[in-house]
Amino acid sequence: MEYDIVVVNGVVVTASDVAEYDIAIQGEKIALLAPKGTPLRAKKTIDAKGGYVMPGGIDAHVHLQEPPLFGKGSTADTFESGTRSAVAGGTTTIVAFAPQDKSKETLMPLFEETYAKAKDNCYGDYSFHMLVSNPTQQAISDLPALKEAGVTSVKIYMTYAALQLRDDQVLDVLLASRQNGITTMVHAENGDVLNWMTKQLEKRNLHAPKYHSNSRPQPLETEATYRAISLSSLVAEPILIVHVSSPTAAQHIRDAQTKGLPIYAETCPQYLFLTKADLDKPSFEGAKCVCAPPPREGSEDHDAIWKGLNNGTFTILSSDHCPFRYDDAVTGKKSVISPEYPVGRFQYIPNGIAGVETRLSLVLGEDRLPLQKFVEVTSTNVAKLYGLYPRKGALIPGVSDADLVIWYPKGGLAPFELKNEMLHHDVDYTPFEGRTLRQWPRYTILRGQVVWDRENGGLVGKKGYGQFVKRGESLLALKAQGEWNPEDF
Ligand code: URP
Ligand code: ZN
Repeated sequence: MEYDIVVVNGVVVTASDVAEYDIAIQGEKIALLAPKGTPLRAKKTIDAKGGYVMPGGIDAHVHLQEPPLFGKGSTADTFESGTRSAVAGGTTTIVAFAPQDKSKETLMPLFEETYAKAKDNCYGDYSFHMLVSNPTQQAISDLPALKEAGVTSVKIYMTYAALQLRDDQVLDVLLASRQNGITTMVHAENGDVLNWMTKQLEKRNLHAPKYHSNSRPQPLETEATYRAISLSSLVAEPILIVHVSSPTAAQHIRDAQTKGLPIYAETCPQYLFLTKADLDKPSFEGAKCVCAPPPREGSEDHDAIWKGLNNGTFTILSSDHCPFRYDDAVTGKKSVISPEYPVGRFQYIPNGIAGVETRLSLVLGEDRLPLQKFVEVTSTNVAKLYGLYPRKGALIPGVSDADLVIWYPKGGLAPFELKNEMLHHDVDYTPFEGRTLRQWPRYTILRGQVVWDRENGGLVGKKGYGQFVKRGESLLALKAQGEWNPEDF
């Protein structure tokens, strides 16, 4: 038979194996994995030239086209520019957020609104988590319909004025999620303590970007993480703690996992590469690295997070792509500069940084994770956790979408300096500017179509090819059985 595409001479890496295979693609699916050199006829042959061939990256933490929620500004990337950037960086599927603001009583119409923004505009495949900030009875009663539509996860916040839930509201969401087979993501920072710390700093006239980090020290994240674990254990609802930065918080997660609690965790490249010192760059430049939780002190903290990735404390590695333009006085980082506050006002700096395009290259190039572990935390576990597996995150013939990222062989790409102008997002900077990269995707293939070809045209995919992917229940976050009963306590 004649296949549509064969990928030959690659080192195929999945979450379980590293081996030399050739891969045949038919239509949108993986058709065959055959020993290297098997004669295969195809319309198109891609020579991977000894490079790694992996399932396409899945980034489950991407903020696109969101209104002001995390400070003053609105996110810079649209679904078009965000997914364009994703595929150029080897990520074939993103999970973005459908936000509910506190004035809204329902969820379903907000999902539909966000879906309409994404539809026909994406370069890569996409899905949504529902962001819940007002868990009314009506909102909660929308969960079954959302699940039916393929939205099987919600995110809640323990901080940010526009989003923060009280503990009783957290429990309402956790219980409803348990009853509906939904996975709950938690942003764990103590918002009340943050407000108190912010007041203390402001009283002392300390407004510069670097004080963002002082306002959110590790105990704020550690306490909220422990509280989230405790609340989750009350209702036996699995949770995923997002963007963990603190080694102490990671230790609480590890301890809970050791006890057998269904606690999952995510970390991000910013907690492996950036430090508090990045917020203290001259002038207002530190604002470029303002995100929450903030980058921590230094290499010891980074080492602890790398260790957590290696030992399984962290289930997934996402970008938390939440981009704001720097030189934009209306919706960007500079929106907090005024004649009264010439150094800006850290408490209103939009929180978040861009990273959907650089997530995979930064981490793979460091060579600090075994290759299978890299695939596990950047693709396979993400698919399992969020109900995309085995359509995504795997290379199972006849079952998995033909989503691939093809890299250079180790040492096969001359190290180069990252510059924002190389990237495909709609942001005027990258917080990782000037870093030495040793890897970049040579090709990205999405459902059998080459969408990124670094050496022949770069971005070759088309806006609108990306599809909404309906998700099922989590395969990792197994749900508690039976009714929840307060008399059990
Ligand atoms: O600074 C961050 N993390 N911005 C994105 C919003 C969030 O908390 O996920
Ligand atoms: Zn968050």
